[in-house]
Amino acid sequence: MSRRALVDGGIAAVALGGAGLLAGSLTATFGRDELPAAAPTPTPAPSGSAAAGTGVTVPAASVPVGGSAQVKDPATGDALYVVQPKAGQYCAFSSVCTHAGCAVDAPKDNQMYCPCHGSRFDATTGAVLNGPATKPLPKYAVTRKGDQLELGAQQT
Ligand code: FES
Repeated sequence: MSRRALVDGGIAAVALGGAGLLAGSLTATFGRDELPAAAPTPTPAPSGSAAAGTGVTVPAASVPVGGSAQVKDPATGDALYVVQPKAGQYCAFSSVCTHAGCAVDAPKDNQMYCPCHGSRFDATTGAVLNGPATKPLPKYAVTRKGDQLELGAQQT
């Protein structure tokens, strides 16, 4: 193989690698952007219902056991997570970290992690598992009505 062929081959390999990295980056970006579109669409609750606090209902089927659904509290504009740690047990927590206001990650292994300074919260109670946060995540009442979950007002 000639020196020129080696140089040309190297340039082609670098170009292909760069294209691959760009494609991977775009895939990762689009993958992240797809999450909100897949999230359930909250619907206003009928007036006078138990969910008058937030006016938000979420399809129960969108909250799997051990999983969560992210919706927005129209009163605060902040995201909240509706979780089902055990079959039939629903709860919801603000995604706003009580330490300095960063957004906590979606619940995983029954914990919610704040990437800013490392606080961890119990995803079944909102309690602080480790700081620097000292206050629990604000909680919302969740009431199941048929196949819908109605979210009450933020409790703390
Ligand atoms: Fe969450 Fe600091 S803002 S740990």
